[in-house]
Amino acid sequence: MGRIKNIGVLTSGGDAPGMNAAIRAVTRAGIAAGYGVYGIYRGYEGLINGEIKELHTEDVSGIIGRGGTILRTARSEEFRTEEGRAKAYENMKKSGIDALIVIGGNGSLSGARLFAEEHDVPCIGLPGTIDNDLNGTDLTIGYDTTLNTIMECVDKIRDTANSHERIFFVEVMGRDAGFLAQNSAIAAGAEAAIIPEDSTGADQLETFIGRGIRKSKKSCIVIVSESPKCGAMYYAEKVKKEHPEFDVRVSILGHLQRGGSPVAGDRILASVLGVGAVKALQDGLRNVMMGIHNSSIVHVPFNAAIKSDKPVSAASIEALQILST
Ligand code: F6P
Repeated sequence: MGRIKNIGVLTSGGDAPGMNAAIRAVTRAGIAAGYGVYGIYRGYEGLINGEIKELHTEDVSGIIGRGGTILRTARSEEFRTEEGRAKAYENMKKSGIDALIVIGGNGSLSGARLFAEEHDVPCIGLPGTIDNDLNGTDLTIGYDTTLNTIMECVDKIRDTANSHERIFFVEVMGRDAGFLAQNSAIAAGAEAAIIPEDSTGADQLETFIGRGIRKSKKSCIVIVSESPKCGAMYYAEKVKKEHPEFDVRVSILGHLQRGGSPVAGDRILASVLGVGAVKALQDGLRNVMMGIHNSSIVHVPFNAAIKSDKPVSAASIEALQILST
């Protein structure tokens, strides 16, 4: 692989607030460094189908505060296959793109890792996911905005829960990770969080219910991580059956959690990491995800970033237990 002349940028997987800020940062930093910058539409699908357009400074004006992604996104089935990735590589060569910046979550960076292993392409990842489940970075782009969105929704649910003296089970996203549930529960003053990483949330709920919510509080809000088997519905049915004296409701927040204008933290994170991604290419780095750890920029090898064992902090689990009593 010779000197890099043109870089491609794409967003892939579930969209996240702040992806536009990342596209803007990569475009502007790339142009400033003397590269041609090419936007690839609909994630890896666009790389396979040749949906590629050069980006200029003015193409990314006024997008830093917009939710979603101007490049669109997709979960590409074809890119999961070796043939699909070979097609994508051919298209990259045809378009004169010699390096790739991928903004996405776990699945997208796993795709980038395979692509870079099979073909001689320098790839840099930017952690773009509301789930915060990428290893090696304290935060992912979109996570903070989604936490704030959930907190605002739960504040509203609390008003009606108090009025009716009800128990609410609020289901939030996160795929297999409990960061959104755990930390939105703290931020919204919920009584418990039930997350995949910790089984004490369900016990906490039992203790709380055993004590009788009306003795201490007017309502009870339990934040539950999404799960095909034991989501909010599961716990609501269980409590209804075991404690018919309680008035129970469920609220599944769904995709509203992924929309909206990014908060300042996500805009800044996306901007700093986006500029860092271009610098990483200039410095000859490849196959790493940009991250932030203890306020410093870090480069995390793809293999380490996609390992699905990022821990939810014990301190936040303990804090919720103490504060919700
Ligand atoms: O990874 C982001 C995420 O929002 C997860 O939290 C959720 O499980 C999933 O994407 C939903 O994906 P889709 O929008 O394809 O239904």
